[in-house]
Amino acid sequence: MPGIKRKKAVKTPNPTWSKISYVIEVVTVFSLVEAVLFFAQVSPLVSIFYFLTVIYLKVLRGKRRLDMRSFVSLSLLFLIYIPICRFIISSGWSPYYVPVPAAAMVVMLNYRDLELVFVFAMLVSFLTAEMFGGNLYYFWIVFLSSIVGALMSQNVRHRKHIFRAGVGVSVTMVLLYLLYVYASGGNIVKANLIASLVNGIVSFSITFVGIPLFEAMFGTITNISLLEWADTQQPLLRKLVMEAPGTYHHSLVVGNLAEAAAEEIGANSLLARVGAYYHDIGKIPRAEYFVENQPHGQNTHEKLSPSMSKLILLNHVKEGLELARKHRLPRQIMDFIAQHHGKSLTYYFYQKALEEGKEDIREEDFRYPGPKPQSKETAIVLLADAVEAAVRSLPDPTPDKIKLTVKKVIDSKVIDGQLDECDLTFRDLDRIARVFTKILTSMYHQRVAYPEPKGKNGKNPKNGKNGRNAST
Ligand SMILES: [Fe+2]
Ligand SMILES: [Fe+2]
Repeated sequence: MPGIKRKKAVKTPNPTWSKISYVIEVVTVFSLVEAVLFFAQVSPLVSIFYFLTVIYLKVLRGKRRLDMRSFVSLSLLFLIYIPICRFIISSGWSPYYVPVPAAAMVVMLNYRDLELVFVFAMLVSFLTAEMFGGNLYYFWIVFLSSIVGALMSQNVRHRKHIFRAGVGVSVTMVLLYLLYVYASGGNIVKANLIASLVNGIVSFSITFVGIPLFEAMFGTITNISLLEWADTQQPLLRKLVMEAPGTYHHSLVVGNLAEAAAEEIGANSLLARVGAYYHDIGKIPRAEYFVENQPHGQNTHEKLSPSMSKLILLNHVKEGLELARKHRLPRQIMDFIAQHHGKSLTYYFYQKALEEGKEDIREEDFRYPGPKPQSKETAIVLLADAVEAAVRSLPDPTPDKIKLTVKKVIDSKVIDGQLDECDLTFRDLDRIARVFTKILTSMYHQRVAYPEPKGKNGKNPKNGKNGRNAST
């Protein structure tokens, strides 16, 4: 019919076909790895161990099962140890040179998942032990050293922390080797001792130098890269300070709130903080249209129609993504730009448009394009962003008012369905609300003016004259 646009049919993937193609992909990768193990004449026990690992990674982990990219990458990382071992065997070097702990440290840095580290380190240690003649003690020495290296890389916040983990690996491996020699009543082999000492340094070097390579391979982001993006000397953050100082300040506050909340519920707190720093960079091109950058009493939207105002607001997400692409921001940080408003309604301008009484005002036209937050971290930033703006606009922010506002904002986001696609539970939301209230109360609540202590003659007993107490 003329005048009526037909909606395009949206293709939804067939769930049965998705499952079949998923199984085909897993079986293909599994078969290829098994074929390599067969042709490399590795012990059949390793093949069985790899099979059990695949069952764990792709089936038993349920919702937390590994995505295809990580599965392929980890399988490749596992296979790389075959030529490494062959090279060391043919060179006649000590088996303690094989940098098994590097595998555990790399997985920990990229996935922050101790369970995954445990399984993967066990698989690689088993492969290495089998290739060097199936020495069980050797297996335990490299496996336990790997776990120590991984545990020490868990909360890395600086490159030097990886070096510390490398030292930890060396010390553990040397001690375990000495313990093994002592328990078995044998002699210390100098080459093995030196190799155990060097192993930590080799593992550190591989992990340290390989950070960008492994991030690209796994599609992940490590704390080390996140800290580099958090540096205020980053061009985009410098642009934000210079051109939208109000937004920059707002982003810092949202970052603090998000980091504390993520810490509280066990999410990635550094990712939440860095994501918050960049969430509003799309405001840079039109900073004066956002309240935090407007001088008191000025409102640039007064002369604009609600539709135009709405367009400027909605565009800051799109422009943010364009800026992010231009500055090569990692995908994990870009997610915060895209998802920090979810599909929320620009309520004020929608109401204004309704009041003007124009026809064809549709609610969905006044909503952000989304997507809704897909992770706990982006959901926390959505909440921190909304809560910070609401509390900042309170005329008299008492602790009770702050608490009520935080609750109202979070409830409204839940009711509006903005948190439908992330994993936050009601218990998480409760804990997040408590953290937000605590921080915002200490930030915005005006301090009570204490009565000044007076002496008998009505003067300050300390300085002998009336004046404000300096220690409020
Ligand atoms: Fe925003
Ligand atoms: Fe914001």
